[in-house]
Amino acid sequence: MCGIVGHVGSEQAAPILLDGLRRLEYRGYDSAGVAIHTDGGELKVVRAVGKLRNLEAQLNASPLPGTVGIGHTRWATHGRPSEVNAHPHVAGPIVVVHNGIIENHLALRARLEERGAKIASDTDTELVAHLVHFKVKDGLDLESAVRAALRELHGAYAIAVLSKNEPDRIVVAKSSSPLVLGLGDGATYCGSDIPALLPYTRRMVFLEDGDMAVLTREDASVTRIDTGEKVERAEKHIDWSSVMAEKAGFKHFMLKEIHEQPRAIEDTLRGRLDRENADVHGHEIGLSDADAKAIQRVYLLACGTSHHAAMTGRYYLEQIAKIPTTVELASEFRGRDPIIGPGDLVVAVSQSGETIDTLMAAREAKEKGAKVLAIANVIGSAIPRLADAAFYTHAGPEIGVASTKCFSAQLANLLMLSIWLGRRRGTLDTNGARELVEGLAKLPVQMRDVVIGTRQLVANLAKRYRDARDVLFLGRGLSFPIALEGALKLKEISYVHAEGYAAGEMKHGPIALIDSAVPVIVLMPKDRWYDKTLSNLQEAMAREGQVIGIATEGDEAAQRLTQDVIEIPAVLEALTPFLTVLPLQLYAYYVADFKGTDVDQPRNLAKTVTVE
Ligand code: F6R
Repeated sequence: MCGIVGHVGSEQAAPILLDGLRRLEYRGYDSAGVAIHTDGGELKVVRAVGKLRNLEAQLNASPLPGTVGIGHTRWATHGRPSEVNAHPHVAGPIVVVHNGIIENHLALRARLEERGAKIASDTDTELVAHLVHFKVKDGLDLESAVRAALRELHGAYAIAVLSKNEPDRIVVAKSSSPLVLGLGDGATYCGSDIPALLPYTRRMVFLEDGDMAVLTREDASVTRIDTGEKVERAEKHIDWSSVMAEKAGFKHFMLKEIHEQPRAIEDTLRGRLDRENADVHGHEIGLSDADAKAIQRVYLLACGTSHHAAMTGRYYLEQIAKIPTTVELASEFRGRDPIIGPGDLVVAVSQSGETIDTLMAAREAKEKGAKVLAIANVIGSAIPRLADAAFYTHAGPEIGVASTKCFSAQLANLLMLSIWLGRRRGTLDTNGARELVEGLAKLPVQMRDVVIGTRQLVANLAKRYRDARDVLFLGRGLSFPIALEGALKLKEISYVHAEGYAAGEMKHGPIALIDSAVPVIVLMPKDRWYDKTLSNLQEAMAREGQVIGIATEGDEAAQRLTQDVIEIPAVLEALTPFLTVLPLQLYAYYVADFKGTDVDQPRNLAKTVTVE
């Protein structure tokens, strides 16, 4: 989730770019840079790893006077965080900053190298700079060169491009990544989010996917990338405060991140689903086909919410790839001298990639000869660095301490891993794989519908039960880890005591807790466990529990037997966790909000846990 800022006007660009980037810091970043057309007629680039103050120090030491420039904060997706991978990227007179992922980067790199491009970084962005440069060499002006280049790119991007030869303009474009334009007096701006521009103007223009624009001091002229046709995009007046804008108008980052999950899944699936061959592109998994066949056992190691994703992953690996799978709390795995070695695959699942227990457990497994695969959201973090390979989630930075969108993205990677292994081991036939791949591709829309369609009902229920002292979450099979996750979310942000239970365990003890004051949230999608879950639900009703069912659309038994039903669409069994978890995240959020707790920074918790 990189940040882009651009300015063409009569004020000095450097302070505006730095200020704009600072206002985008909430998006997360690991390096930053600016490019400025200097008054001396040069196009200069300065980049620095780490915090913006490092970039600022360099600019203070060697100022770049000039009024046209672009700036960028990078959240690594291709290539580790380093100065050479930081943006802007340069090719000849062309300078580019980019947010997003270019899907056809491998083919593009090969083609550019064939034409003699010297590519310095591991990034997909530098390829865009070289591609535009070749178009300029072919005689095109900047706008036409960018248009021609974009027509050869697949993927999600927002870009801003400068050319040394045309110092009075910035060319920008957008496809599936955010980019907003700002109109000032004698100045035009661009930014990947509203807060970057708010101190300078409130007159904004929102580009649509497939738009590009040329920004000059006078105006911004917008055209379609494919046809070149000029289009008018209405100017909007934004009256948000800066703080509201960072949260895109949501009250808390957590609520924003719950709503961002469809996008997180889309970005995580992008370039990985092979819909033509009903398969998954598995080069990031770091195993050969022979390795995939030879795996004896998988160990999934994780903590907290990531552990719940791992528990769901066990179902995928066992059902789809038919590999015996053990899920371990990383803190319990260590020091037990686990019997593990060559032939075992260890998958360390961690949003931050830095959790010390998961890191140490993965290290121990590696020392014992197991292959280690990291599933992490932060590129270049400690666990991927230690692992033999990293299969990243692309959820973008998660700011709320309670993990939501990273959890969903972890589920997606675990399912894709299982599909890839299942295809190679011959345990998943083409039809089965096609169903899963197509089902995954449809998920973002279904997730969006569930979040939007259930949030009001969930908020009403949260209001009704906000003072409950205890809440139970029940589920079987694939819904069991989701019940645990629902309880964890509620505990950590609302401080209400909550328990997740395997529904079948109820009668072995926890049923004693149920009375008319205890809401019981039962996950009951129509799956192979449904009938049994229904019996457990009746046991809870018989004890006067206040039962809320999370059920498949049209489930009459759920309507009849529960006080309230939250419906999710019918999907393949394997995909139900992606949908059932959404109302639980919303429930935790609204209870916490009604109670007035610090939703994004709950007491005693940290986003990255680097103590044992
Ligand atoms: C809960 C939560 C934590 C983390 C856990 C592991 O909402 O965020 O339980 O899941 O601390 O963190 P990562 O995934 O960074 O290893």
